[in-house]
Amino acid sequence: MAITIYPVYADFAAEIGDVDLAKPLSAEDREAIKQAFWKYAVLVFPAQELTSNQHVAFAQVFGPMEPNINSYAEEVKQDRIDGRISDVSNLDHNDEILAAGSRKRLSGLANRLWHTDSIFRHVPARASLLYGRAIAPIGGNTQFADLRAAWEALPQATKDRIAGLTVEHSIFHSRAKLGFTDYTDRERAALPPALQVLVRTIPETGRRSLYTASHAMRVMGLPEAESTQLLEELMAHATQRQFVYSHRWRLNDLVMWDNRCTLHRGTDYDERRWKRDMHRATVSDVGNTCERAAASPAAVAARVAS
Ligand code: OGA
Ligand code: MN
Repeated sequence: MAITIYPVYADFAAEIGDVDLAKPLSAEDREAIKQAFWKYAVLVFPAQELTSNQHVAFAQVFGPMEPNINSYAEEVKQDRIDGRISDVSNLDHNDEILAAGSRKRLSGLANRLWHTDSIFRHVPARASLLYGRAIAPIGGNTQFADLRAAWEALPQATKDRIAGLTVEHSIFHSRAKLGFTDYTDRERAALPPALQVLVRTIPETGRRSLYTASHAMRVMGLPEAESTQLLEELMAHATQRQFVYSHRWRLNDLVMWDNRCTLHRGTDYDERRWKRDMHRATVSDVGNTCERAAASPAAVAARVAS
């Protein structure tokens, strides 16, 4: 039986049924899921029973796994789960709710700012696959914004002005917005800032995307005030409600998103009361967006012509 697709919007977010991700996929299902992923950018797979190995195996359909972000944190926040998977829970290594002042909790609060995963790495993330192993009965939704629709809705003059811009991103920039600056030199050195294009083209669809996030520090080549204002305005534009899907979690949902063309954020819930145990497998993109853009046929042709 082929997979079933229930779109949430015409070309953004869809629920996928009639597939068991714990089993190897048939070639047809694999292809159908990939096509749906490129088209909808956010896919929801309800009622999946996955081991960590199965979760990782399904992630690898979309590319190589990204090294776990937690491996850069000096505190031991791993241990609790498989080392290939990021721990996005509010739990400590005894599966108890984190203390209010815990470093893991404070750093995790940055997930509540609109972002796209690993834009601050030289090679950013392509896909993230978040698996809900325990959910809050109320609150704790994850919201997604469609950065393709956001790009398309910009005024032509703005598009022309920003299309060739480059942005510097750092994970410590978004953390600092919350006043969380408690990082060692070694942690900072492990995640230096990265440059990414502001507008990228998604090869599978040809659609362009407004590639920004709360990690965005500055637009290269602009005076600081202009850069900050532009980043603020683009973020406000991209997260208007007509571009947003809000996901209400059910236990054992697997939700995957295309980091190249969506923003996401966690939302409030009573973290001191409910256990929320989310596991994230992250797939790497194919390269740095600036390097890829510089090497694109159009860029090479422009250099040859000049
Ligand atoms: C993530 C993330 C938000 C949430 O896993 O990358 O940002 O709702 N999660 O847990
Ligand atoms: Mn995230």
